[in-house]
This record gives sequence, C-alpha cells and structure tokens, in this order.
Amino acid sequence: MPLFDVYPLYNVTPVSAKGIHVYDENNTEYLDLYGGHAVISIGHAHPNYVDAVTNQVSTLGFYSNAIQNPLQVELADKLETLSGCKDYNLFLCNSGAEANENALKLASFKTGKSRVVAFKNGFHGRTSAAVAATDNPNIIAPINAQQEVTILELNDIEGVKTELEKGDVCAVIVEFIQGVGGLDQATAEFYEQVDALCKANNTYFIADEVQSGYGRSGKFFAFQHYNVTPEVISVAKGMGNGFPIGGILIHPSIEAKYGMLGTTFGGNHLACAAGLAVLNTIEEEQLIDNVNAMSEYFISVAKTIPQIKNIKGRGLMLGLEFDFEVGDLRKKLIYDHHIFTGGASNKKLLRILPPLTIKKEHIDQFFKALKKELEAVEV
Ligand SMILES: Cc1ncc(COP(=O)(O)O)c(C=O)c1O
Repeated sequence: MPLFDVYPLYNVTPVSAKGIHVYDENNTEYLDLYGGHAVISIGHAHPNYVDAVTNQVSTLGFYSNAIQNPLQVELADKLETLSGCKDYNLFLCNSGAEANENALKLASFKTGKSRVVAFKNGFHGRTSAAVAATDNPNIIAPINAQQEVTILELNDIEGVKTELEKGDVCAVIVEFIQGVGGLDQATAEFYEQVDALCKANNTYFIADEVQSGYGRSGKFFAFQHYNVTPEVISVAKGMGNGFPIGGILIHPSIEAKYGMLGTTFGGNHLACAAGLAVLNTIEEEQLIDNVNAMSEYFISVAKTIPQIKNIKGRGLMLGLEFDFEVGDLRKKLIYDHHIFTGGASNKKLLRILPPLTIKKEHIDQFFKALKKELEAVEV
C-alpha cells in the first residue's frame, strides 16, 4: 500500500540518534538544529529517557483513564513546580492540535460563547477548531469553516477590543512566539492589554505553548516573559522528547466536571514516564540556563554575519532572516554539510530549533557551514 503522499520529503533516512546528532543508514552524522520540529528537548536517546520508557513499557505501558494512575499525578506535580504555574490543573492528551482543541472547547463550555479571536500567521494544529483558528486557508476544509473565527493582526489592540466587546468571543488564542509563521512576536503592551481585555469580557486567554513551552524560549513558558495570566496553556512537542503527549494547564478558577473532556490514550503510563523523564532532566541538567547561554552565544555570532538581515525569536526558538528565499540554502546545509534546519511560512527565514542540550561547538559548526554557503552565493 503506498503512503498517502502529503509530505515533501528530504532524501535522508535516519536510523539512529544520540544527543544532538542523527545518523543515517551509512552512519553519516547529521547535526540536528531542527529537533524533529522543536520536539527533541532533552536530546535524542537521553539515558534518563531511555531507561524510564524501557522500564515502564516492560511493567505497564497502558491502561485507560478509568483507573488510578499515580504517574499522572507525579507528572502534574513536577510540571507545577518547574513551570511555576501554581495551582493550575492538568488535562493530558496526545498532541498539540488536540491540546488546543481541548483548550478552545473548554473556553466555549465555560463562557457559553463560541467565537474565537486568533492572529495572522498563527498556527494551532489541524483538528476542527484548532485548524479554523490557524491562518492558512489551504489547510482549512469546508467542514472546518463552520467555526466562527476572527483573525486579527498581531498588535492590533483596537481590533481585539472591538471584537471582545461584542460579547460573543470565548477565547483569544496566541503563540507568544509564532512558530510555523516565522518567529514573530507582538509587543509586551499588546499581550498585557489582551490579557486585561480577556479578563474584562469573560473571554479565555489561551497561550499556545505547544512549540515555545518547556524551556525553549529561555523561561519555562514564553508567556512568562510578560505580565499575563492565561486561563489555559497548551503544551505538546518538547513535553515527551518524541513520545506523543500533549496537555492543557487550566487556571485554578476553572472547575472540572466529569465527562467534560476525555481521551483514550491521553496520559497513559508510557507517555507519563516519558514526560517525567523530560521534566527531571530539564531540572537536573539545568537546561533552561543552557538555553539562555546558548541563545546569547548564537545571537552574538549571528550578528557578525552581514547577510543575516534580522534575528527573530527567543531562546532556542530562533529565526535567521535573509533577503533571499532559503530553500536552496537548507538543502545545501543538509546534503553538503549534514545539518538539519527548519523553514517557515516566511520563505526567507531559516528556523533554528535544536535540542535544549546544544553546546557551543555545535553552534560553531553551524556558522562555519553557513558562512561557507553564503560566500559561495556571493561568488
Ligand atoms: C504552536 C503550535 N501549535 C500547535 C501545533 C500542532 O501540534 P501537533 O502537530 O502536535 O498537532 C504546532 C505544530 O507545529 C505548533 O507549532
């Protein structure tokens, strides 16, 4: 049976990985500055992770949400401690889209409203409400178009005010650093005013931290760079270091009700073991400090390269903007230098999303290759 052909593929076949490197069938080593799309947080095949997942699968890999699962409680406690989101509640699911779908659903249940405000170039996943809140008509099927969503420009505070004061908006959903869209951020005043407008209008402020969460921005959550209190925070990607797990953190003022949300696989034993190994490693290895140190180093070197017109993002969620489209450059980096990088909707932007364990030597290796390619373009 052929695979349904929806992904344009690079011709590389990874068969193993360790730390910041991925290896193909010929044992060629690739430097992973893409982290499998911001998923690899503590590094490939980290021993803590391998041990935790191996031990768990050999004892109890899965049982449903109808029984007690102390691993979920342990995961929630650890997440509360490391994130500083005191007294929030955790609902576990399996992916980023599912996290946002549940966040939007919860907002609608609790406010009794149904319209969503989202932002230009935002990406929230491919399920029903999440894709409708995503600013990409190419991935919104007619069945999703029935959702009521208003897309505004980032920083358009008057627009947000006008829409929220109409009284029918259940949620404003935002990525505090846009991922797929190209690393754009709004101003602190904008985020803080949106937060206040949400509180004044019985509207939930949803922080989509699926990509920017788990330390990637240099704080546990990207919204923590601002003075805001989201009602719901959605997480996935880095949470499981490759094991499919997602979730929403729910403000303590929001009451649960049996049956309101649910899932078969979400929060299973194996997923919790993976999620706990990630949190324990972030703590033990002080990875958020490493994110800040490596980000500073990366940006300081990037600033010395004149062809880089703009450096976007924060922490290890960075974008290098050029005045040309980077598709060919990414191919050269992969095929000639064995370095994975990411692209964005902004075709002139190279995305950098490495494991949070990256070291200076890896950054030096990247810039050496980049400079060589940029010189070749100019000759
Ligand atoms: C900010 C953001 N939200 C949601 C998603 C969707 O996550 P998933 O692909 O796990 O459904 C993504 C994926 O790239 C994302 O970057």
